[in-house]
Amino acid sequence: MPDAVKKVVSSGAEVAVQQGAGAEAYFSDADYRESGALITADLASTVEGAGAIAKVQPPTSDEVAALPAGATLISLLQPASHLEVVKALADRGVDTFSLDLLPRISRAQSMDALSSQATVQGYKAAIMAADMLPRFFPMFMTAAGTIPPAKVLVLGAGVAGLQAIATARRLGAVVKAYDVRTASRQEVESLGATFIELDLEAQEGSGGYAGAQTEEFLAAQRDLIGSHVAVSDVVITTAAIPGRRAPMLVTTQMVESMPNGSVIIDIAAESGGNCELSQAGKDVVHGHVTIRGAQDLASSMPTHASSLYARNISAYFATMLRDGELAPDFDDEIISATCVVRSGQVVHSATRELLKENEA
Ligand SMILES: NC(=O)c1ccc[n+]([C@@H]2O[C@H](COP(=O)([O-])OP(=O)(O)OC[C@H]3O[C@@H](n4cnc5c(N)ncnc54)[C@H](O)[C@@H]3O)[C@@H](O)[C@H]2O)c1
Repeated sequence: MPDAVKKVVSSGAEVAVQQGAGAEAYFSDADYRESGALITADLASTVEGAGAIAKVQPPTSDEVAALPAGATLISLLQPASHLEVVKALADRGVDTFSLDLLPRISRAQSMDALSSQATVQGYKAAIMAADMLPRFFPMFMTAAGTIPPAKVLVLGAGVAGLQAIATARRLGAVVKAYDVRTASRQEVESLGATFIELDLEAQEGSGGYAGAQTEEFLAAQRDLIGSHVAVSDVVITTAAIPGRRAPMLVTTQMVESMPNGSVIIDIAAESGGNCELSQAGKDVVHGHVTIRGAQDLASSMPTHASSLYARNISAYFATMLRDGELAPDFDDEIISATCVVRSGQVVHSATRELLKENEA
């Protein structure tokens, strides 16, 4: 984004932006030029001589081949899902940093790309549900009678879930939510939603995330959550456990129990889905219920998704600079936790283990 370019330029770096890079987020080459960027014609001329390269998605193999050896790459790499790319980057000698590995500590909040993109996802999920539902979200008292508000259930009250709750509340729905972490209760209630109390043990992991759950736990959760799903017009599911398949929370039977015209938005569809019937990138119509396997929700709101991501990147990049030179401090928790490849070696231990397993 042009604003972020300005910031990086003021830190003493030169910035090259590939022609048309901002077009889909409604930023023109002229906007970037005005912010001090050099506009380049293609990938090769953009990365030529670059010390650091910022991207959204992981690079393709052609892109890796074009990167200068010894350069630094910052992106949302999700290394566990892109092992071949990680290997290619190591072979190419590109120092690689992935923002999805950022520790959730206060100092890193301005760089937290997972949170910024989840904020967009949660908001968009609630708006989508309101658009798809064949009834109003708010209560209406009209001359033709009173319309009751829609009932929305949010499963998983992390960053995306809380944003979905806030948005659905703003639209006037009655919202209930559940999460396996105890801390989420207060956050849900502070947004004016009701926290569903289930007779289950909390599942706390490390770093503010949920812990891995057994199949017994999930079966018990499904038994208890069923009656809440059955009375909901909308279910928005966001439940995730880092590095694992999304937990399956909503069964086909539960879908069949929902009111006519109900809608499920499954934000976890890309990582396996929270609903048994979800298919990533598709709308599945099962009886009288539509299940949307949400995909690329952040890309559907490119201006603000890009704006937030660009701020994350520029804040992260600033921690790598010393006296205007690229000099990441590997003793800094933020740098060491996010580093995947350094000097041709895969240094992120979980990724290295996965690569070894794949080779065996
Ligand atoms: N300190 C920071 O800077 C910072 C930044 C971002 C997030 N966080 C913390 O991390 C939390 C989770 O972050 P996230 O949204 O990226 O998580 P996430 O995307 O990994 O998971 C989404 C939610 O799903 C929940 N979940 C997992 N299994 C579930 C199940 N079976 N049923 C219901 N819910 C289930 C998780 O507890 C989480 O709240 C935040 O709410 C916050 O407390 C801290």
